[in-house]
Amino acid sequence: MGKITAAITGVQGYLPDYVLTNDELAKMVDTTDEWITTRTGIKERRIQKEGASSDMAVEAVNGLLKKTGTDPMDVDLVILATVTPDHPFPSTANILCDKVGMKNAWGFDLIAACSGFIYALSTGAQFIETGKYKKVIIVGVDKMSSIIDYEDRTTCIIFGDGCGAVLLEPNNEGNGILDFILRSDGSGREFLIQPAGGSACPPSIQSVEERLHYVKQEGKSVFKFAVTNMAEVSAEIMEKNNLTSDDVDWLVPHQANLRIIDATANRMGLPAEKVMINIEKYGNTTAGTLPLCLWDYEKQLKKGDTLILSAFGGGFTWGSVYLKWAYNS
Ligand code: UT7
Repeated sequence: MGKITAAITGVQGYLPDYVLTNDELAKMVDTTDEWITTRTGIKERRIQKEGASSDMAVEAVNGLLKKTGTDPMDVDLVILATVTPDHPFPSTANILCDKVGMKNAWGFDLIAACSGFIYALSTGAQFIETGKYKKVIIVGVDKMSSIIDYEDRTTCIIFGDGCGAVLLEPNNEGNGILDFILRSDGSGREFLIQPAGGSACPPSIQSVEERLHYVKQEGKSVFKFAVTNMAEVSAEIMEKNNLTSDDVDWLVPHQANLRIIDATANRMGLPAEKVMINIEKYGNTTAGTLPLCLWDYEKQLKKGDTLILSAFGGGFTWGSVYLKWAYNS
């Protein structure tokens, strides 16, 4: 028998109903639909008016279990990537397992901001490849509206709420996750950070008054690092695996800014029709962007397709995953 690989065998997304348009944002801060569209590619994003990150994850995972015919009692492990957990502890993965009835699973949260999904996917794949587990669920979820300052036009226009989840199962046909490159550089922390709420700056009246519980981003610097690193790591994984642009069927890029996506696709030599894009509908859902792309494009994916997933985010964190799609819808 050949090597066991970890393959995605189902994907499901969940988006809250409320649509926050660029025009509505233009009534809240000094911006315009034209500026947001040309600088980012975003037209609208979803906002979860009630409930927590776990509630979006419950919707996605219940849909995933139903769609793949999986009994919640058969799930071994849940890795949930988020920067907006329900609470600092217990983990949102624990809460999700309880709400969905995955009583035999253990789970944990993973913090890697916008790279959360690829970090979690690569980690979860190890438990399948060793033969230890048969069913691992990877969730990317963020309720960014809970940490965004809707008086700060440099951040509130970018982010939205959403969740995506995938099931990983063993594959012996050569499909599934074949390689990954993951990187981090903590010296970038000052450029994209939620300053308060942790042990470095516990909540206080002062931290609230100074609005330190909101995301702070130095957009230009993050943009520069994102363009360079996301493009480079995507090209690197192609070279490492002897892939040409003709071999790659899909780039699945983190949806932070259309200009970053274009630069990555250009560096990889990929035409626009091979690039998954849904940023115009959902904005940047942080850990949610990649599984939400897979969900939106699932029907176009064919067994054996070559995909490169790529992300860059706070930390800094970044990386790419090379996988072969394992099923036809
Ligand atoms: O997902 C994880 C990582 N995050 C990212 O990858 C985001 C990376 N950064 C970006 O996508 C972009 O930097 C932004 C979309 C955040 C900003 O776009 P930019 O082209 O880098 O704009 P900028 O910060 O250089 O600002 C250009 C101008 C400034 O005005 P002046 O100084 O030239 O007069 C800003 O004050 O645009 C102004 N500006 C705005 N104007 C209208 C900034 N935000 C807005 C706004 N509406 N919302």
